[in-house]
Amino acid sequence: MTILVTGGAGFIGGNFVLDWLASQNETIVNLDALTYAGNLETLQSLRQDARHVFVHGDIGDSERISALLREHRPRAIVNFAAESHVDRSIHGPGDFIHTNIVGTFNLLECAREYWNGLEGGEREAFRFLHVSTDEVYGSLSAEDPPFAETNRYEPNSPYSASKAASDHLVRAWHHTYGLPVLTTNCSNNYGPYHFPEKLIPLVILNALAGRPLPIYGDGQQVRDWLYVKDHCSAIRRVLDAGRPGETYNVGGWNEKANLDVVRTICAILDELRPRDDGKAYQEQIRFVDDRPGHDRRYAIDARKLERELGWRPAETFDSGIRKTVEWYLSNSKWIAHVSDGSYRDWLNKQYG
Ligand code: NAD
Ligand code: TYD
Repeated sequence: MTILVTGGAGFIGGNFVLDWLASQNETIVNLDALTYAGNLETLQSLRQDARHVFVHGDIGDSERISALLREHRPRAIVNFAAESHVDRSIHGPGDFIHTNIVGTFNLLECAREYWNGLEGGEREAFRFLHVSTDEVYGSLSAEDPPFAETNRYEPNSPYSASKAASDHLVRAWHHTYGLPVLTTNCSNNYGPYHFPEKLIPLVILNALAGRPLPIYGDGQQVRDWLYVKDHCSAIRRVLDAGRPGETYNVGGWNEKANLDVVRTICAILDELRPRDDGKAYQEQIRFVDDRPGHDRRYAIDARKLERELGWRPAETFDSGIRKTVEWYLSNSKWIAHVSDGSYRDWLNKQYG
């Protein structure tokens, strides 16, 4: 048996591919366009592994995808491929529309054609799992209950609007054409192989390099942090047992203000890799201009996934963030290779 994963050279997709092949013997065909966020080094350990078939390609390329579906006859498609960074979507929303909306539409159409050609048990078993975000629900105030699957969609950034649009397409392809889809909406992930444009890896690497630790606005924005391997286990569970047409929220039950996250990272680094001058890493914290339209708080109510499918995260924030810092301290080669010229250009553009 085989599954087709898109975006499997990115942060979450890469972790998903590694975890999948570590725990089961089913082949993964991994289609990824290798944008700035895709990195084959994450998958280095699979180089000689015949169960991993890497294909360099775009989810917008119908011919390529239809040919892959015909050749490999996957029992499922898991769609991670996306432009995923809010700040980049503010600078240039076009790629987000192209990949997240048009690309998902294209993938759905290819999946529909393929699924229509399946028969019997193969047709029954087929699933299209779409990986989405809690950001589609908009922003919460401090008193609001966490997002449930029934919350209204109120996306605020070009990124979240493009993901919301893709979720609507996925929903419609189920209601109109009967395609057996599953959607997961998860909170902020963190862990190994995270590209250092996002808060947690950026802060770890800037701290070690002696650079400022940029906090947008007052640093009191709240995110619900989910260890990436917990997210991967949730996706496997939804793929196994989720009900077609349903959406499942995935969260870590770890609401934290950004400033607290950064202080926690600094404290772990003080312990594991103290600064040469003996000072605390917190001294590198700098408050910078806020992100335009910055959502104040995200929080996920993941009880549906627990009630219906028995999933709960294994990591607390304390255990997950320590593992993450330790991973960055011991993987300098991976880090050196992602911190290339285009990455430095991004840092200059965003932080001056
Ligand atoms: P990422 O940016 O690290 O990786 C995205 C991957 O998709 C990259 O490997 C990239 O090369 C590939 N890609 C981009 N455009 C493509 C295209 N047109 N065709 C094929 N491949 C393409 O993203 P991530 O953090 O791993 O996120 C994966 C998914 O999870 C995304 O859909 C994202 O919206 C969602 N999500 C992420 C988070 C998070 O905290 N990182 C939270 C909620 C939801
Ligand atoms: P990020 O990792 O970009 O994820 P998202 O925007 O999808 O939540 O940002 C997490 C939080 O950290 C968000 O509230 C913005 C904030 N942030 C900073 O304060 N400084 C930074 O340099 C970055 C990248 C993010």
